[in-house]
Parts: sequence; C-alpha cells; structure tokens
Amino acid sequence: MIYAAVLAGGTGNRMGNVDKPKQFLHIGKKPIIIHTVEKLIINERFDKVIVLCPEQWMTYTKDILSKYLPGNDAVVVTPGGDTRNGTILNAVNYIEENYGLDDETVLVTHDAVRPFVTQRIIDENIDSAVSGTACDTVVPAADTIVESIDGKFISNIPNRAYYNQGQTPQSFRAKRFRELYESLTDEERSILTDACKVFVVKGEPVAIIRGETFNIKVTYPYDLQLAETLLGGDR
Ligand code: CTP
Repeated sequence: MIYAAVLAGGTGNRMGNVDKPKQFLHIGKKPIIIHTVEKLIINERFDKVIVLCPEQWMTYTKDILSKYLPGNDAVVVTPGGDTRNGTILNAVNYIEENYGLDDETVLVTHDAVRPFVTQRIIDENIDSAVSGTACDTVVPAADTIVESIDGKFISNIPNRAYYNQGQTPQSFRAKRFRELYESLTDEERSILTDACKVFVVKGEPVAIIRGETFNIKVTYPYDLQLAETLLGGDR
C-alpha cells in the first residue's frame, strides 16, 4: 500500500501575525493546503492521503476539505505531532491502526505548504520508495553556500557543485522510518528535524529526486506573493 502524508502540523511562526496557521491561508481561490491535497489525490497510486494538522484545527481542516473537495473519501484527517518528525510518526501509527502496516508499506511525506509539487516528482518518489530506497527531493544550490559557525566570520565556503537544497516529498518505507526514529536518543531526535536525515545518520542510502525551483515552501509573507504569481491567475 502507498500512502501520502500531508504535513500540516505546524503553526507557521515565521509567517508573522496571521489569524491561522499558514497552510490555511489562501492563494488564489483556495487555502494553500487544498491546492496541495489536490496534487496528491489526483495521483491514483495513493491508497489514502492522510492530512496531519494541529489538534485544535482538526474540525476546521475537515470542514475546508469537505467544502473544496466534497465526497472525497480518499482523504482522512488526524492530529500531527509536536515536531515535524513527530507528525510523520503519527502518520505511520495512524496507518498501522487503521489499515495495517507491513515492511513494504510506503509513505510519501509532503509539506502542506508546498502546493506546486508535480506528478513527475510524486511518481519518482513513489518509484524509489517502492523499490526500497528512501528518497529526498532536492534542487541544486543556486547560491554559493557560506558557512559561519559563530555567525560573525566565514568558516568555510564549500564547493557549490556538491550542495542541494532540500524540498519535499521525502519518501520511504513507513515501518523503517519508525524503527530508525525510535532508535534515536531524545537528544538526537531534537536535532534531527529532517526525516531523511534520520536515514542518513543511521547509514541508510537516500536517493535524490530532482525537484523544481518552483516547488517552493510558503514560509514568509513574501512567499505568499510569490505563490500567487506562480499560481498564475485566480485558481
Ligand atoms: N509541520 C508538521 N508538524 C510540526 C511542524 C511542522 O507537520 N510539528 C509541517 C508544517 O505544517 C509545514 C511543514 O512541516 O507544512 C514544513 O515546516 P515549516 O515550514 O517549518 O512549518 P512551520 O513549523 O509551521 O513554520 P515555522 O517554522 O515558521 O513555525
């Protein structure tokens, strides 16, 4: 079975003073999260699309899903966790409790606030995870990476050719993610905010899937304007 997890458990602090978490803000005619869910539900390879949101936004999330995507029983809503990886862990546990989990169960995790993901990216993620290799969606670093450990002086300027910027989806076998995550200490868990990094630090291969520069994450108010432009019109 192949599941999509829409990660919407965050509150969007960097978006500033808005009345709701950024995934619920509108671009065009719909909330960002609806644009994102639409991209996932049209991919017929998914058995279910699991939306994970803050507990207090559960009813709201269900309401907008039935408003914009009425009668769609492929989408379910469940609470996210305190951290992004905690949200992914909740998705794995939800699958186990409701549908059963085996070694082959695949989870494609995607940020609710990346509404411009393409079917090509989703399909390549599924292919890799189904074949048993975890994968991360990335684009080559556009700017030179400048490292500063003390925040005052440059400590290194690495070769840009080796560096990429991480996007989502990030996809893997669900059970393996949980096994690796549960083997981490609390301290490791607090540092490892990225799902693929859990695989990397445990020495498991993670394949690279080519993303798109327009597969942006809505993080700051500026990104909302950019997203409106990328949407191109009143959709
Ligand atoms: N996310 C999640 N569960 C969490 C934290 C984050 O599912 N406990 C999700 C967010 O909802 C978002 C995605 O992970 O869709 C990417 O994270 P980020 O952009 O950092 O979102 P926020 O944590 O909401 O933003 P901020 O860091 O500005 O508070």
